[in-house]
Parts: sequence; C-alpha cells; structure tokens
Amino acid sequence: MDSLGPTKIYASILAAGVVFGLTGLAGKLLVSPERLHHPVLNIAGAAAPAAAAAPAAPAIEPVGPLLAAANAQTGQALAGRLCSSCHSFNEGGRAGVGPNLHGVVGRNHASIEGFNYSAGLRAKSAEPWGYEDINTFIAAPARAIAGTRMAFAGINSPQQRADVIAYLRSISPNAPAP
Ligand code: HEC
Repeated sequence: MDSLGPTKIYASILAAGVVFGLTGLAGKLLVSPERLHHPVLNIAGAAAPAAAAAPAAPAIEPVGPLLAAANAQTGQALAGRLCSSCHSFNEGGRAGVGPNLHGVVGRNHASIEGFNYSAGLRAKSAEPWGYEDINTFIAAPARAIAGTRMAFAGINSPQQRADVIAYLRSISPNAPAP
C-alpha cells in the first residue's frame, strides 16, 4: 500500500460525505413522518375540529316511564347537591351562573329575561322544555345543546334524572302532564 496522496485523501473525504448524505436520505425515505390530521392538544373553549368528534355515545334512556314512580323529594336533595351552586329554584329567584329554574317544565327554552344564554339554547327559544328535553339536557348538556354554557358533566343515572325532573315538575305550575 502506497502513501495516501492528497488526491486520495480528498477522494475518501468526498466518498464519506456521499455515504453520509445517502444515509440521511434513506433514513428520511424510510421514516417519512406522517402529519397529524388534527391537533393533539384541545384547548378548552376552542372549537373542536370535526375530525376529533366524539365516538357515538350510548343512547340516553327516556325519562317518561320512570316519572310516575320518581321521587320529587329525593330529586330536591339531588338538585340541592348538583344544581344549586348555579341555579335557584324559588319563584322569582335570582339568576346565578345559571338561570332560575322555577317553572322550567313547560316554559320556553332560554326565556329568562336578561339572562345571557348561549346561542345554542337561544336557537330553541320557541320550544318549551318538555320532560325528555330536560332529560337529555341534564344527562349530557354539551351533547344536547351544542355550545351550551352549562358547564356540568351530566347525571348518568336515569333514576336520578327522573327524581330531579319530578322535583322540577313539582315547582312548575305550567308543567304538562307527563
Ligand atoms: C356550573 C353551573 C351549572 C350547574 C352545576 C348546573 N347548571 Fe343548568 N345551567 C347553567 C347555565 C350557565 C345555563 C345556561 C346554559 C346556556 O345558556 O347554554 C343553564 C341552563 C339550564 C337549563 C335551561 C334553562 C332555561 O331557562 O332554558 C336547565 C333546565 C338547567 N340548566 C338545569 C340544570 C339542572 C337540573 C342541574 C343539576 C342537575 C343543572 N342545571 C346544573 C349552569 C349550571
């Protein structure tokens, strides 16, 4: 083996460079990172991208068949625990974070004068709150009314919803027969 001349040294540096470059290219071709279709982080309050829509949730059990045997007193206790941080229930009661709920069964959606309702709820202001409307709303508020301002996860138990609704009926003079 003869001595390494400057040309050979130069050539080997060049060859090393080519190998290095090719390796990088091959790496890129092999790994080709895929872009995420939607952001992983979902900032609360930001509109959820369509692609991130929740998987179909289970159907909400209707409250009608449970109402006859529901217990308004248990419902009042539940409402005291779950709803009264935001709602008042007495006639003419003040709005809190949420509107007063006296007479809510049979009263139109979003009908408390001066309360700052969400656009989603206001869009239904020509419709009265029926038993099943309240049932689906308190089971999963955000699912029932898109963009609702009621920051409440919902009541899973159909029996508990029936009890709360029986209580709301008991304080609603214009409630229709269930
Ligand atoms: C964290 C506060 C909060 C809690 C807890 C809460 N709500 Fe609400 N509620 C609201 C707000 C705010 C609105 C107005 C929603 C909108 O404008 O989209 C609302 C609206 C409503 C409405 C519609 C009233 C109308 O005038 O159209 C009903 C019915 C209701 N809530 C029932 C309940 C019941 C029953 C519970 C307990 C099981 C409950 N809420 C718990 C804040 C709350």
